[in-house]
Amino acid sequence: MKFYTDRLIMTPGPTEIPLRVKKAMIRETTNPDLDPSFLELYNNVRGKLQKLLNAEKSHIYVMAGEAIMGLEASIANTMKPGDKVIVVANGVFGEGFADIVKAYGGKPLLIAGENWRGGVDVGEVERALEKNRDASILTIVHCDTPSAILNDVRSVAKIARDFGVITIVDAVSTIGGVPVEFDNWGLDILIGGSQKVLNAPPGLTVIALSDDVWERVERVNYTGLYMSFKLWRDMLDVKNVFPYTMPDVLVYALDEALNIILEEGLEQVYSRHLKAREASWRALETLNLEPYPSSLEHSSPTVSAIIVPQRVSERKLRDYIWVKYGVLLAGSWGRLEGMVIRVGHMGLQASRTHLLKAYTALARGLKDMGLEVSVSKVVDAIENAYT
Ligand SMILES: Cc1ncc(COP(=O)(O)O)c(C=O)c1O
Repeated sequence: MKFYTDRLIMTPGPTEIPLRVKKAMIRETTNPDLDPSFLELYNNVRGKLQKLLNAEKSHIYVMAGEAIMGLEASIANTMKPGDKVIVVANGVFGEGFADIVKAYGGKPLLIAGENWRGGVDVGEVERALEKNRDASILTIVHCDTPSAILNDVRSVAKIARDFGVITIVDAVSTIGGVPVEFDNWGLDILIGGSQKVLNAPPGLTVIALSDDVWERVERVNYTGLYMSFKLWRDMLDVKNVFPYTMPDVLVYALDEALNIILEEGLEQVYSRHLKAREASWRALETLNLEPYPSSLEHSSPTVSAIIVPQRVSERKLRDYIWVKYGVLLAGSWGRLEGMVIRVGHMGLQASRTHLLKAYTALARGLKDMGLEVSVSKVVDAIENAYT
């Protein structure tokens, strides 16, 4: 492992944890099941998340477990075996929802799987809903992190609502970096993660639930325990007790991570991420590298996915940049593995200095491998984006 002064983590999650968040984790220990001050802090975190997600009318839970658990819980609690689910499959996680649906006995109908390089075509969603009036759930990923694609969740959720279909949104790599309006957009379930834009450690999943979705949750009557939304509501909201012991240290971290974002102000936070995306794309243009998303507006402000030139091994390039220049970049998965390299610009990474370091390292890495690139032009491109 590299000493912290010699490295920069630029992966699209888990991300580096700011010192303030690390400090927040060092406290006197307590019993989070019994100490009323922990419950108070937990409820304050829910309030902060309501602000972040514009979910004032909705219910928020912070559950112990990775975001994958949140995705699984959202299906387990709302779907009965045999239910038809429209799965917006224009990315690795988008497509992945189908596996969860199948695992719980549902029938996934995959749409938009043809075009992974663009955001979902809202017309295609509408046509699928029209043809499949028996579908009751739609799943969509806000930013499919492995490809950096950003989907127009707002328009999709509106159409789904018109058809009486509930919308489940994976917003794991957007919350805290891209605006989300849970109530106004008419979302039913949103899943967020702690270790991406929020710059907190992995281990928590954020769940937002609309008022309307409860009727469905009651009807489906999921009988599992650990992921049961009903259990969370009936224990936490009714009796003020947690269904299981909370990892208090992680909740302290999330609390401080949210403080940092809310202190900066949401507008400023979002424009900082937009600026990072712009700087990143300008750097790529100078490097003659093609972004995987076909256009800027379909590329998430939180991450860039870049097609690696054919004569370069993506894995070797990443390893080399890490060892030689101390910058950790990410590869991708599924059908993008070996083809795409990713630079995270989420949370504290969405800064001029982080991007300068990441892209000079990428430029130097490519140059060292024999490609004709100008490191100084990359620096200029990023500096210009910030002036
Ligand atoms: C869009 C998206 N959804 C879900 C997940 C899964 O999150 P976790 O690894 O925390 O379970 C990830 C992680 O990379 C992601 O990028």
